[in-house]
Amino acid sequence: MDFRSALKHGIAQLRGARIGSDTLAAELLLLHATHRERTYLYSHPEVELTSEEESAYQSLLDRRVSGVPVQHLTGKQEFWGLSFEVTPDVLIPRPETEHLIEVALDRLALRELRAGRPNKNDGAGLLIADIGTGSGCIAIALAKELPQAQIFACDISSEALAVARCNAEKHAVGERVHFIESNLFEGLSLAGARYVLPNEGPAPLFRTPEEPARFDLIVSNPPYIGRREAPSLAREVRDHEPELALYGGEEGYEFYAGLIAQSAERLRPGGILVLELGHDSRDAVQPLLEPPRWANVGVTNDLAGIPRVISAQRA
Ligand SMILES: C[S@@+](CC[C@H](N)C(=O)[O-])C[C@H]1O[C@@H](n2cnc3c(N)ncnc32)[C@H](O)[C@@H]1O
Repeated sequence: MDFRSALKHGIAQLRGARIGSDTLAAELLLLHATHRERTYLYSHPEVELTSEEESAYQSLLDRRVSGVPVQHLTGKQEFWGLSFEVTPDVLIPRPETEHLIEVALDRLALRELRAGRPNKNDGAGLLIADIGTGSGCIAIALAKELPQAQIFACDISSEALAVARCNAEKHAVGERVHFIESNLFEGLSLAGARYVLPNEGPAPLFRTPEEPARFDLIVSNPPYIGRREAPSLAREVRDHEPELALYGGEEGYEFYAGLIAQSAERLRPGGILVLELGHDSRDAVQPLLEPPRWANVGVTNDLAGIPRVISAQRA
């Protein structure tokens, strides 16, 4: 079978099984099975696959038909123009989460403008926390955009943190992104900090064991799906992505109350909170960001017009 017919065969098999994005999926699986780049596929459509490549490709197609996400078959997903390693231990980064990065960068710039300071677009002196880091996609994208910022990336899952740490090394930001196994902010004090992998430990950031670190920016894409919605989820999500990353409670929005209350204690005055929202969580979340604790609340829609990111400033 040559590349052209292999691609046609893959598309037909996936389409027959009603798998979404069949063309893209067949292409990604073919490239993965043959260790080729996309340009090769389209410049050498007549080249024959070896029998090993053919059987590797067929096995990937069969697994995709059985419900395994493409990203678990190829082990990677793009986010913010960067390639991230993904495993079943982490949420597959979603394109809508890129809005959270945009809002965080815009709000940092606006804060400097309002304070009459030059925009610190290298992040010098900024302390950032990412709560529920998963693959590390948010923390690492911010580290790339703000090359002087120090970032604490927490997750309750040590398995997720191991993946995130690999991604930080791959993108050469491992020195500035500190991974901590923590339930929300619990591990973010010198006394409670447990460094999962061999970080040196940013001791100067914690002046005393009792004094918790305070942040300029807190970001989070928390678990926000309701358990009651589980039956209607796509099976590749429900059966293959970590429950800890998906469900925020019976309704879905329950996680936000603790996250917002703890963030209020952990932000410096004027610090910024940026959270991703579930498709219907705005009405439950916005009332948690009221004065006098919070000011300048903003909501940003995603490309589908769904309120996707909520941000606020610690008054
Ligand atoms: C929706 S995923 C987001 C992953 C990643 N930030 C992203 O945007 O793709 C939520 C993450 O929160 C973590 N998590 C769940 N409960 C937590 C808790 N109580 N404290 C810290 N992290 C938690 C999960 O393990 C998961 O990695």
